[in-house]
Amino acid sequence: MLTIQLISAFVLASCQQALAKSCSGFTAIDRPNGPTYTSIDGPRVISKGANCPATQNCTVPHGGYVTAGRTLNISDPSYADSVFKTISSVVELEFVETKTYPVSNGTMGFENGTSGYVIFTPYTICTTGRLSDCDAGELNGELVEACTLDLRSEGRLEGLTSPVITVGDDLETLTCNPANTTQAKNGNYSSSCTGSEEEADHTGAASALGGMSLLLLSGSLLVALVGF
Ligand SMILES: *[C@@H]1O[C@H](CO)[C@@H](O)[C@H](O)[C@H]1NC(C)=O
Ligand SMILES: *[C@@H]1O[C@H](CO)[C@@H](O)[C@H](O)[C@H]1NC(C)=O
Ligand SMILES: *[C@@H]1O[C@H](CO)[C@@H](O)[C@H](O)[C@H]1NC(C)=O
Ligand SMILES: *[C@@H]1O[C@H](CO)[C@@H](O)[C@H](O)[C@H]1NC(C)=O
Ligand SMILES: *[C@@H]1O[C@H](CO)[C@@H](O)[C@H](O)[C@H]1NC(C)=O
Ligand SMILES: *[C@@H]1O[C@H](CO)[C@@H](O)[C@H](O)[C@H]1NC(C)=O
Repeated sequence: MLTIQLISAFVLASCQQALAKSCSGFTAIDRPNGPTYTSIDGPRVISKGANCPATQNCTVPHGGYVTAGRTLNISDPSYADSVFKTISSVVELEFVETKTYPVSNGTMGFENGTSGYVIFTPYTICTTGRLSDCDAGELNGELVEACTLDLRSEGRLEGLTSPVITVGDDLETLTCNPANTTQAKNGNYSSSCTGSEEEADHTGAASALGGMSLLLLSGSLLVALVGF
């Protein structure tokens, strides 16, 4: 049994060698504050919809689980692993793989007569530069941006928790918090959910949500999900 495992390990190792896909050079573009800068990952909805009556202010609880990780906009994603290592060796950044983090528990106030929901926008630390010495010639000279999450405070995900005030946006009718589902906890967040808070744990289906902000949000989420 052990022998077979060893052999498979060797075969796997040699296959990876044969398919070596790496760029051993990276030249960061320097900015006023050095080669790194702060940026943001796509926003995630972390509350259910708030609908305050015209005569009363209200609050909505927010929190849940956000899955995020390093990102790289390289044209050939099969080079990503190696390129992250190369960039790490040049710029002082550790590219943490995608993980699920609990985020900002609390309550957000909304004024009477308004509706909305709460979003969490993870902060990232990025660098931009050119690749060189790549196994595939066409990658040489490619300008790429590599980002990692801001985990400076004890491995907690740093980010901005903010309200989105809406007028006639379907997201305000969210009956549950999409970041607070079993699915989100397991790393499979979806920007919508259906049913009550309790039922949400068992449903994964996206409801028929529309509206401009959801479109924008999906765009950001797409960008966020092109991580590795
Ligand atoms: C909110 O409440 C105040 C005070 O009761 C009222 O004057 C105002 O019109 C309300 N706003 C909305 C949007 O209903
Ligand atoms: C809602 O909160 C605002 C700001 O705290 C306050 O000025 C307003 O009177 C409150 N409205 C109601 C209806 O309580
Ligand atoms: C998360 O869901 C639980 C019930 O499953 C609920 O008690 C809690 O208030 C929810 N928290 C947030 C922030 O939505
Ligand atoms: C939020 O509350 C839940 C349940 O109480 C907890 O598991 C989670 O760690 C909390 N998240 C943060 C960021 O404090
Ligand atoms: C990656 O993103 C940077 C910064 O936005 C941009 O300048 C560069 O052209 C992008 N590269 C690719 C391959 O998309
Ligand atoms: C993630 O959720 C989608 C639907 O939102 C579902 O089709 C997919 O199977 C889920 N994946 C995992 C790994 O649970």
